[in-house]
Amino acid sequence: MIVSWEQATDLIQQGKIVGIPTETVYGLAASIQHEAAIHEIFSLKGRPTDNPLIVHGADLESLEPLIENEQSDWRKLAKNFWPGPLTIIVHANIEKVSVLARGGHPTVALRVPAHKQALQIIAQTGPIVAPSANLSGRPSPTQMQHVLDDFGDKVSVVDGGHCDHGLESTIIHYLDSSWQILRRGSISLEQLEQVLGYKPIQLNNTAIACPGQKYRHYAPTTPLILSARASSEQTALIIGFSGRVYPHAQRVLILGDLRSPEEIARNLYQVLRQVDHYKVLSAIVDFAFEPVGILATVAERLQRASLSFTDH
Ligand code: TXA
Ligand code: MG
Repeated sequence: MIVSWEQATDLIQQGKIVGIPTETVYGLAASIQHEAAIHEIFSLKGRPTDNPLIVHGADLESLEPLIENEQSDWRKLAKNFWPGPLTIIVHANIEKVSVLARGGHPTVALRVPAHKQALQIIAQTGPIVAPSANLSGRPSPTQMQHVLDDFGDKVSVVDGGHCDHGLESTIIHYLDSSWQILRRGSISLEQLEQVLGYKPIQLNNTAIACPGQKYRHYAPTTPLILSARASSEQTALIIGFSGRVYPHAQRVLILGDLRSPEEIARNLYQVLRQVDHYKVLSAIVDFAFEPVGILATVAERLQRASLSFTDH
């Protein structure tokens, strides 16, 4: 069912789960005060309970009480990137953030989303947990319809149109005296470098530090094959770019123009969700592009979406 942001606020305050838009992807929102609702989020998504949720606040001040004994200069990042698609891992005040939301970790992931309706809701409800509003393993939802496709009438959803960024938030953690990336996302390493003075490195063993990274992800059911020579591939379906020709493909799904990386990021999950409609044995992805800026995140998501067929 489609609901207004005001109705969503009421539902969340009553301990219900609501699909809400953010600037990255749609999230399944529940109040951090309602343990049963948080529980239901895990079962609805089919999400393992060792995989913690991100807590979203309306502003930095409302998230501060959830933090304890934090030594890092997280405020510098928060002030530069919030509201916006940066998730910062800090030490949790375990009285305020339940062990369930934390997936058993002593830390909590925090962010302030840059989306009008999301902020209107959270300003009324107080902090919420909001994992991406997809069934575990599926591409994240960038439109309301994607949420309905995965959950049908099991959740109410606020329609916020197409998400601006289309890729999840970047997750960063202060470890061994420097900021490290646990998940690439909508904020590029280059943007973080401008604030930190150095480029944060991608943590090697993200599977341990960021449990979500060890699970199958972002994938259509159709196997995806990444190819650096997609233009010469003979295939039923290619995922490619406008301005390029694929003379041997029966059908082409366009991600966008490589000169406009933000457009490609915005379209990625929508295109991955379309692949299965064509019922082909496999699809080829044009992987002939330089993975810099936001395209580094796009490349990483495509790699995960394709690897999943040999990886689980
Ligand atoms: O853009 C986003 O971040 C979206 C929107 C809705 O805000 N949310 C999102 O949530 O992507 P989710 O649950 O799909 O992904 C959160 C990731 C998971 O990989 C999880 O393992 C990691 O964040 N995470 C959460 N809390 C953590 C913690 N305390 N330590 C390490 N990783 C954590
Ligand atoms: Mg997710």
